[in-house]
Amino acid sequence: MPSVRSTTDQDHAVFVDTLHAAFGRFPETPAEDGGGVWWAALERERCLLARAADGRPVGTAGTYAFELTLPGGSLAPAAGVTAVGVVPSHRRQGVLSAMMRHQLTELRAGGEFLSVLLASEAAIYGRFGYGPATYTRRLTVQRHQAAFAPLRVSAADGAPAEGARAGSVEVLRRAECGEILEGVYDRYRRAQPGALSRPPRWWAMGAGQPPVSRAPRYVAVHRDADGVPDGYASYSIGEPDTLTVDETIATDDAAFTALARFLLGHDLVAQVVFKHLPPEHPLRWQLADFRAGTLSGETDWLWVRLLDTPRALTTRGWFGDGELVIDVADPFLGEHGRHLLVVRDGKAECVPTGREPDLSLDVSDLGAIYLGGTAPSNLVRAGHIRAHHPAAAALADALFRAERPPHCLHWF
Ligand SMILES: CC(C)(COP(=O)(O)OP(=O)(O)OC[C@H]1O[C@@H](n2cnc3c(N)ncnc32)[C@H](O)[C@@H]1OP(=O)(O)O)[C@@H](O)C(=O)NCCC(=O)NCCS
Repeated sequence: MPSVRSTTDQDHAVFVDTLHAAFGRFPETPAEDGGGVWWAALERERCLLARAADGRPVGTAGTYAFELTLPGGSLAPAAGVTAVGVVPSHRRQGVLSAMMRHQLTELRAGGEFLSVLLASEAAIYGRFGYGPATYTRRLTVQRHQAAFAPLRVSAADGAPAEGARAGSVEVLRRAECGEILEGVYDRYRRAQPGALSRPPRWWAMGAGQPPVSRAPRYVAVHRDADGVPDGYASYSIGEPDTLTVDETIATDDAAFTALARFLLGHDLVAQVVFKHLPPEHPLRWQLADFRAGTLSGETDWLWVRLLDTPRALTTRGWFGDGELVIDVADPFLGEHGRHLLVVRDGKAECVPTGREPDLSLDVSDLGAIYLGGTAPSNLVRAGHIRAHHPAAAALADALFRAERPPHCLHWF
């Protein structure tokens, strides 16, 4: 069995070198010099190094300390698992399993109740208790078909007030607007279930993907009538006449619509690709021609792993009243619990119970439904979750939904 232990500053070069070997790559700068900006963003005290019996470094894993927005708007500490790799010569010998066990045990001992990750391959993390909880996709709009439909209801009836509101869009370069992006993203992520915080030092260092990184980009910044930035779209134009939007971040639908109008009105562009659109986004419905936009690249994004079911369930907000008994199996950690969930007025109590269960499920499926982005009934139909009576799945669907589909576009 490999030995697993936390790294220190002295291990950084070995950590970076081992991780690159796992991916068959070489660091951007020599590992002894840090390996490049991305690796400088690692929280070294939260990294693990696995060594084989002969002392050779064979595996790496780490976590970032993020904040995750839960349904209802509460902000939860979330360990963001990253830098997972095992060198090719030592795979399928239990190195990752040993690191996952060590990591989950340490996180729990440190009082954390959930962890999250982005999976390079979907087959890896279910066995460790992670389930896909948010989804993302891209929308490609042909510009010659991109006219907006007239609004059918007025702003007074709840339509986005964008048409009536005096806002403005200014195009800046990424290098000159980092603070604006950081501020707008932070306001957005606090109201969006499934969104993660971006640590200030990531912005300061330019660690991550555009527009957090310093890659050259134009950024359309939207300001409200008072001149306060409330949205941005970071983009580049490439062949063949395609404007690709890395991310469109807006603190409300009106700002998003104003940015979409701006991007879709860009001259000398045949199509606009909106990356990272959440499920059930209104943009397609706003176009006069519903087929002007094509969805593609639908994929899972954030995977969630619960480490303390009662705490996780009582921390998120709820949108319907009801009672549900769930029987949760956690084979990786060798645990099992039966919980009575009682939801009233947006809050839940969760206590141990001996009552007959409504649903029996694996902790990975609880992670998948936790943010409201995966319907429990779908997992019942898929044969993942066992419903003990005909009404159980619909009851769980009604309870677990969020105020809007959870979405995450932060890459780590
Ligand atoms: C993915 C990776 C970390 C797995 O490490 P590992 O030490 O080989 O994993 P383990 O030996 O602990 O495997 C545990 C179980 O998961 C399975 N498993 C591991 N990786 C898998 C994969 N990519 N696909 C399917 N199953 C996988 C193993 O077969 C084993 O199953 P078993 O318990 O039924 O025998 C390693 O293959 C790797 O470094 N890959 C390249 C980098 C990468 O993809 N990292 C993940 C970034 S998110």
